[in-house]
Amino acid sequence: MKKILSLFLLLGIFISNAAAQIDWLDAPSLKEAYGEYFYIGFATPDRMLKNRMVQNGLNYHADCITMENEFKPDFIFAWQTPTTYTDFTGEDGNTYKVPKNFPNFNGMNELMANAKKAGVKMRGHVLVWHSQTPDWFFREDYRKGKALVDKDTMNARMEWYIKSVLENVKAWEDKNNDGERIIFAWDVVNEAVSDNPTLKQYLRTNGSNWYSIYKDESFIINAFRYANKYAPKDVLLVYNDYGCSSIAKNKAIMKLVENIKATPDARIDAVGMQTHVSIGNPRISGGLGTFEGAIQNFLSLGVDVQITEMDLSNGDSPYDGEAQRGAYKEYFEVFLRNRKTAEKNGIMGVTFWGLLDEQSWIYKPNNGSKIYHKPLLFEAGFETKPALFGVIDAVESIK
Ligand code: GLA
Repeated sequence: MKKILSLFLLLGIFISNAAAQIDWLDAPSLKEAYGEYFYIGFATPDRMLKNRMVQNGLNYHADCITMENEFKPDFIFAWQTPTTYTDFTGEDGNTYKVPKNFPNFNGMNELMANAKKAGVKMRGHVLVWHSQTPDWFFREDYRKGKALVDKDTMNARMEWYIKSVLENVKAWEDKNNDGERIIFAWDVVNEAVSDNPTLKQYLRTNGSNWYSIYKDESFIINAFRYANKYAPKDVLLVYNDYGCSSIAKNKAIMKLVENIKATPDARIDAVGMQTHVSIGNPRISGGLGTFEGAIQNFLSLGVDVQITEMDLSNGDSPYDGEAQRGAYKEYFEVFLRNRKTAEKNGIMGVTFWGLLDEQSWIYKPNNGSKIYHKPLLFEAGFETKPALFGVIDAVESIK
């Protein structure tokens, strides 16, 4: 008898769990809930964008996507090395050798077409970054193993790259999207500020060919000058980084933004705060108060803020859906309080760094731990998690 009872109990738990699962298209639409406040986005790898569930359902929740990897220089160059060259006149009037008929933009164009088909716009990520950029791009004769080029040569190569990518996007939009934007914002520079900045030296040095060539911030300023030169005026230009609420890093990024803004032919519209955080042990020093302070510091400079890569992990503790729901609510209350309106600059939108927990870059346990990280709003099978309701709770509370 006891055995039969516990069998029924088990079955009951199984059925109630199954009943609690909600397909992502039966959950409240995030896009609709946030429509009058700001945009909602998701990072999507290429294979997900081709998934039928995503093609059919993504724009129920999302206004936009960010390609997780595919618009980074490594991918844009498709791991090819150039072999033929042509002349490019740098802004100093000198002629520099740049790759000819390269890169091949077919891959990028297909992704823009897939986004259009799925009914979403895109954030472009990323033009200038120390990581996921081929080493040969920085070297004499575009060959690995050779010496790094000088600043003037690198300026010409950077201008050529930014020009090539932005002109390709514009041509695609003119041809396939009635001249309307598919990519409405670009992370022009990613992660160029040090984690331990000082007043004298606040740039990332480690592993950065950009820093090794320039040894100062001029490559960042130039990236925003070139992006401004070649991007249509309605494309937003963004500086993107993590750990933006550490007090020292926040100050350093503010200084950088001020220096970009002080450059007449450069333009910066927003700071992208990546927001890879975890519950209980926020990878943001000082907790949410400091995080909100950091947002407001950026806004005080007259730029907007975009939350560009949000994931809220259970960190070192076992996953707890309700705790995550509460934490997502708290973050979104901060975002909503600081949202952009017609009167003031503010947060323009939030992008989650992925759709399904199981595909998140931090899902797998690390350092011998057994704890899986489940930082997102949906899980395998496009089932909705309590986290989504935390995001909805926040917007309901201000209505
Ligand atoms: C950084 C980058 C992203 C991505 C994540 C890890 O935040 O900006 O492009 O690589 O790391 O997935």
